[in-house]
Amino acid sequence: MSFSSTNFAAISFTFIIFLLDLATQHSLANVTANSTRRPRPQRLLSVDYYSKTCPQVDQLVASVTSQQFKEVPVSGPATIRLFFHDCFVEGCDGSVLISTKQGSKELAERDADENKELAVEAFDSINKAKTLVESKCPGVVSCADILAIAARDFIHLAGGPYYQVKKGRWDGKISMATRVNANLPRTNSTIDDLIQLFKSKGLTLEDLVTLSGAHTIGFAHCKNFLARLYNYKNTTKPDPFIDPRLLKALTMSCPRFGGNTDIVAPCDVTTPFLFDNAYYGNLESQLGVLASDQVLFLDPRTKPLVQALAKDNAKFFQDFAVAMDKMGSIGVKRGRRHGEKRIDCSMHEL
Ligand code: HEM
Repeated sequence: MSFSSTNFAAISFTFIIFLLDLATQHSLANVTANSTRRPRPQRLLSVDYYSKTCPQVDQLVASVTSQQFKEVPVSGPATIRLFFHDCFVEGCDGSVLISTKQGSKELAERDADENKELAVEAFDSINKAKTLVESKCPGVVSCADILAIAARDFIHLAGGPYYQVKKGRWDGKISMATRVNANLPRTNSTIDDLIQLFKSKGLTLEDLVTLSGAHTIGFAHCKNFLARLYNYKNTTKPDPFIDPRLLKALTMSCPRFGGNTDIVAPCDVTTPFLFDNAYYGNLESQLGVLASDQVLFLDPRTKPLVQALAKDNAKFFQDFAVAMDKMGSIGVKRGRRHGEKRIDCSMHEL
């Protein structure tokens, strides 16, 4: 794998040393959201939705995702995150893919502060897949479905489970930056906030813990864990629930003031490029990078779930596939009244 992207280039040297160090020491074997809408029932979606109109859609998307994964590996985690951000705001309807209209005062979802770190490589992957699909099956497959398929592909390409993606999502007509904040979790959300937000999307405590396992790959910018290093809950001290070696490595990469804003650290510090359950083992060893991850091991409601997944990779894979299917059915739209089929994923239908 070659790490050509700027994100990878920014992983600091100290961090690489830390990872090497850990690899020898750590066993790897081992809403309040304003929306109260429940996800539509799953029957709206089906695996063979395009069996007559575009039977080869999965293969078409796969040819793009496998190429992207080879050439630009950051596309993988970036696309999985993009899918999550799509589903939590307005439902899985491709609304996060819309660009703000030139000259418009109303920003699209994508331009909300919370979405600024969504990597461009994810949008590129979807646009490439969409272009290929349009060339074979014009006007048939939604951007929302392509995003769901691509996310699954990248999970599998990184070593995770392969599961059938149900399809039939239409693209949404609404994409507003103002709807983002209340519908996405934050790293400093309390466990109660996280549980409540997921519940508002029809997702359980188990789903929260399982889906957080997506942090088994991918990266986080310093600003997303800086408070843990220097001023945990305004104590002017580091988070007590962080392994001292990890604290040291992270502080070397991420100075309190004036650091390079492009620096990232892996969310899973033991196997950052492999989709596996090591993420949960990390939490047991206080090696979680994001506070919202570490908190899953600190709360008595979620701790046993973390422990169960830490010791059983097959369970993680099975549960993750089921939870992604559930997440992928949040707020699904169907038909012209609520939806559209966009040709260019970044623009509403004319
Ligand atoms: C539970 C609450 C969650 C919070 C607070 C959260 C927050 C974050 C943050 C702050 C980052 C780092 C972004 C950056 O610095 O660039 C991140 C990365 C990521 N998140 Fe989450 N996340 C959550 C749940 C999820 C879920 C449910 C998924 C998918 C199912 C997911 C997938 C990812 C992926 C794959 C990355 C790596 C992105 C990349 O490397 O480009 N996250 N998340």
